[in-house]
Amino acid sequence: MGRDTSPLHSVSGPTPPESDRPFDATVAAVGQVDPLPIRLRHVEKHFGDNHVLRGIDLEVPAGQFLAIVGKSGCGKSTLLRLLVGLDQPTAGSIDFHRRPGENAGGSARIVFQEPRLLPWATVADNVVVGLGEGVDKTAAHRRALNALHEVQLGDKADQWPSRLSGGQRQRVALARALVSRPGLLVLDEPLGALDALTRITMQQLVSRVWRELGCTAVLVTHDVAEAVNLADRVIVLDEGRIVLDLDVPATHPRRHGDLQLAVLERQLLEAILGDG
Ligand SMILES: Nc1ncnc2c1ncn2[C@@H]1O[C@H](COP(=O)(O)OP(=O)(O)OP(=O)(O)O)[C@@H](O)[C@H]1O
Ligand SMILES: [Mg+2]
Repeated sequence: MGRDTSPLHSVSGPTPPESDRPFDATVAAVGQVDPLPIRLRHVEKHFGDNHVLRGIDLEVPAGQFLAIVGKSGCGKSTLLRLLVGLDQPTAGSIDFHRRPGENAGGSARIVFQEPRLLPWATVADNVVVGLGEGVDKTAAHRRALNALHEVQLGDKADQWPSRLSGGQRQRVALARALVSRPGLLVLDEPLGALDALTRITMQQLVSRVWRELGCTAVLVTHDVAEAVNLADRVIVLDEGRIVLDLDVPATHPRRHGDLQLAVLERQLLEAILGDG
């Protein structure tokens, strides 16, 4: 993959919602992926009396695909928000240790369960939003088309989001995250609202895109089958602590129903349900 040196682009129109805004537009033009390693040291997060994360220690090597599973309310989304800098830990440190003192900034992108597309913008313009401000308009459009091709939606560039299916909208959200070639891709239950078959197709897409891009990926999911299908490693969070850290040694791409994966799924379920 060659380095894209196109300048930054200015996106006109209304300001997108906070969660859809690029984190640091000045770094958004980097073409080739430089996967971010992540290190968390004794990370705590409180919301008033609610002690949500309790001493999280975690090292994620550059390029790893990490999945996080756990009961509703155990702190998964809170942890993701800290990773991409949308919130700050109450105590402890998070660093991306090739760059001491820097946060993931413009090199991190997040995809949520709902695609959060701008209804008044075309599919291509929704993807351009992921580049931030200052990129030349023609270059931005070309890069958006490339990202749409990566998610097999090249033919939908001029459509309105309202004309797409749920799975297609989520692929646009993925393209918007990929267009800046992020070093860290964070996914908060991105397939949770999709039907079972679309979900499997999307899992294959996410797996392929991650392998091609070479970024570090952190996925939150409720689905242990999805976690072992996609990730190199799965951690289980319970009441703000890591209670299991499991390697998934199988090679990619993986097959649903594989016996080795089924054993890991069972181990994860037991840890989540607390009867292991
Ligand atoms: N901004 C906030 N202000 C106050 N409390 C919050 C805030 N964000 C999260 N919380 C609380 O932190 C706890 C963990 O929430 P979080 O969203 O991280 O859970 P989760 O594991 O992602 O759950 P789910 O699987 O349902 O998405 C919950 O008790 C929630 O109410
Ligand atoms: Mg959540």
